Amino acid sequence: MPEIAARAHLQTLIPVIERALETAATRWEQVDGVAVTKGPGLIGCLLVGVNLAQAIAWARKLPVIGVSHLAAHVFAAQLEEPDVRPPVLGLVVSGGHSDLIRWQEDGSIRVVGRTIDDAAGEAFDKGARILGLPFPGGPAIDALAVQGDPRAVRFPRPRAPGVDFSFSGLKTALLYEVRKRTSISDQARADLAASYQEAIVDALLQRVEAAQAADPAPTIVLGGGVARNRRLRQAAEARLGDKARLVIPAPELCTDNAAMIGAAALIEWERRGPDPAPFDADPSLGFS
Ligand code: KG4
Ligand code: ZN
Repeated sequence: MPEIAARAHLQTLIPVIERALETAATRWEQVDGVAVTKGPGLIGCLLVGVNLAQAIAWARKLPVIGVSHLAAHVFAAQLEEPDVRPPVLGLVVSGGHSDLIRWQEDGSIRVVGRTIDDAAGEAFDKGARILGLPFPGGPAIDALAVQGDPRAVRFPRPRAPGVDFSFSGLKTALLYEVRKRTSISDQARADLAASYQEAIVDALLQRVEAAQAADPAPTIVLGGGVARNRRLRQAAEARLGDKARLVIPAPELCTDNAAMIGAAALIEWERRGPDPAPFDADPSLGFS
C-alpha cells in the first residue's frame, strides 16, 4: 500500500531521527552531513526522505548526499569489516532484487547477473503464502525449515541463462507439490519449507560460485534482507569460505537499515562529494 507506506514515513521519520540522536548521545552540532536513500523504492516514501534530508541540510547548513539503497546493501560490509575494499563480488538479495554485482576498483558497481523474473525475497514471500505462512515469508520459512528435511522434496534448480537468476518456476513447483496433497501435516509443511529454501539457497550460491570461478575476486559480500537467512549464511560459509574472504554483515545490517545508508554515504562522498541541492528521488535507480 504505497500511500500508507508514505504516510507512515511522514509520521515516523522525525521521531526516529530524534531517538537515534538520543540513543547515540549525539547533538546536532556534532553532525557533519546528511545521508539519504535516493532510490530505488516507492516514490512516496523516497520523496518524504529526500525532502526531509534536504530540509535538514538547508536549515543546519550541512552538506547532503543521496545514495542508492542497493549499493548500500553491499557497502554495509564496511560496517562489519572496515577494511573491505573493491574489487568485490557481491550478491544483493532482497524483496525486489537478486543481483550479482562487481564493485570495481574505480568505485563503480557493475551488475553482472540479475533475476529474469522474481527476486529471491519475493520467492520466499510467495512460497510462504503458498505454504500458509505469514508475511514476510523469508523469516517464516527460515524458522520452519529448521524442523524440516531439506532433501524431502527435490525441487528443480532454476535455470536461467549465464549467471542470471529465475525463481518463478520454483514457486510453481511448490504450488504443484502443495496441490498434490489433500492435507498437509506440520512435518510435511516443515519439509516443504526446508526443501524450497534449499533450492533457493543452492541456486543463489551456484551463481556466485560460477561468477567467482570466471573472474575471482579477493572478497565476496552478501547483502539484502535474504542474506539474513540462516541456511544461506551457513551454506555460503561452507561453499565460498575457502574461495575468498567472505563478508556477510550481521542480520540487522542485512535488512533495510539506516546505518548502511551512512556507510554508503562515506564511501560515495570520498568518490564524488555531496550532491548539489535540490536533487530528486529516483524510484528506478540502480546501484549508482
Ligand atoms: O532488503 P530488504 O529488507 O528490503 C528490500 O529492499 O526489499 O529485504 C526484504 C526481503 C523480504 O522478501 C523478506 O522475506 C526477506 O528479505 N527476508 C528473508 C529473511 N529475512 C528477511 N528471506 C529469507 N530468510 C530470512 N531470514
Ligand atoms: Zn533492501
